[in-house]
Amino acid sequence: MGKLGIWDFFSEQGRDLPLPRESVNGKTVVIAGANVGLGLEASAHVANKKPSLVIATCRDAVKCERTLKLLRERCAGTQPASLDSWPLELSSFDNVRSFADRFDAEGPERLNVFVANAGTFKPVYTRTQDDWEIMLQVNYLSIALLSILLLPHLLHSATCEDPSRLVLVSSLGHYLAEPVLTGSQNWDHVLGTISAENFGAYGMSRYNLSKMLQVAFVRELAARLPSPTPLVITAVDPGLCHSYLQRELEKYCLLRIVLAFVKWLLRARTSEMGSRTLVYAALATNAQNLHGKYMSSCEVVEECDFLLSAEGKAFSERLWWETIEVLSKVDDRVSQIVSTYLPAR
Ligand SMILES: NC(=O)c1ccc[n+]([C@@H]2O[C@H](COP(=O)([O-])OP(=O)(O)OC[C@H]3O[C@@H](n4cnc5c(N)ncnc54)[C@H](OP(=O)(O)O)[C@@H]3O)[C@@H](O)[C@H]2O)c1
Repeated sequence: MGKLGIWDFFSEQGRDLPLPRESVNGKTVVIAGANVGLGLEASAHVANKKPSLVIATCRDAVKCERTLKLLRERCAGTQPASLDSWPLELSSFDNVRSFADRFDAEGPERLNVFVANAGTFKPVYTRTQDDWEIMLQVNYLSIALLSILLLPHLLHSATCEDPSRLVLVSSLGHYLAEPVLTGSQNWDHVLGTISAENFGAYGMSRYNLSKMLQVAFVRELAARLPSPTPLVITAVDPGLCHSYLQRELEKYCLLRIVLAFVKWLLRARTSEMGSRTLVYAALATNAQNLHGKYMSSCEVVEECDFLLSAEGKAFSERLWWETIEVLSKVDDRVSQIVSTYLPAR
């Protein structure tokens, strides 16, 4: 699928997507948001390939325990020692930092793949304890923070012939985010403006925007790594899938029925089928071709016109520096990692 065309969308939704055959022997894979939906399915796919270790993250210890049990049942024959589940709550920067601290202290020597799958949709404006709008923090800022904190591990485990992978799970919804960025070149602070309650976007528009920010981040981060790269970074769209993402809307009986009808009409994929593009980006061998790219249905496709325009490129670069500025205040390691591994373009 190229741009968001309705007929292309329909035919893509019904397509049987490939599963990569690549081996994951000796590799460590971290998948964030693994208790349900796409993250659970991607974890099961990867664990069934018998890697050295899969760390499936969930928001709390109870979900970790339950997920570990589920994955062990679904991956009979996999060594129990090669599956683990750690807590990770993305609505708190402290929690993200604790996860990175734990990885530094107890994690395996190598980290080959990080799939940043966890994401949230909140129809009602909500702020986190860190004082950011929740979808901006969970879907963008915390994912960016963790990606940067894990970057040294990903780089030290790789070669250009066998690069590590960083996969951010974005969305086709990012194609719809441009209108809310009208006039963004005049904003004092992009992140501050987007986070404010009086920003003129609600529920789904905010969600779509958080997913566009991920695509911009992937492009900026990728451009700061050498070419060929020892770390391949990709943004992926799983397509429209059945999952728990709309759980806040599905609490209401009528909305549940409407959503089920819309998903049927739009040929929503199963979570398992949707997870294949994640697994593909994480493992496929043609990795250098995927670097800095946006993927849908296991293929590289163009991101939205806004990000390809001169205005969008300027926006992305500005967003990058603002993000680094914000995250450097959250954790000292961010500026050190940026100056050591990510030279300015
Ligand atoms: N489903 C689709 O049609 C679709 C389309 C495009 C993109 N996506 C993206 O695909 C990814 C996976 O979504 P999904 O469809 O599988 O939805 P899902 O079933 O709701 O799974 C989302 C996962 O993210 C976790 N998560 C949510 N908030 C979190 C937080 N604050 N901290 C840490 N983890 C958190 C959830 O944990 P809990 O269960 O504990 O909340 C869950 O494990 C998301 O990034 C989503 O935006 C989905």
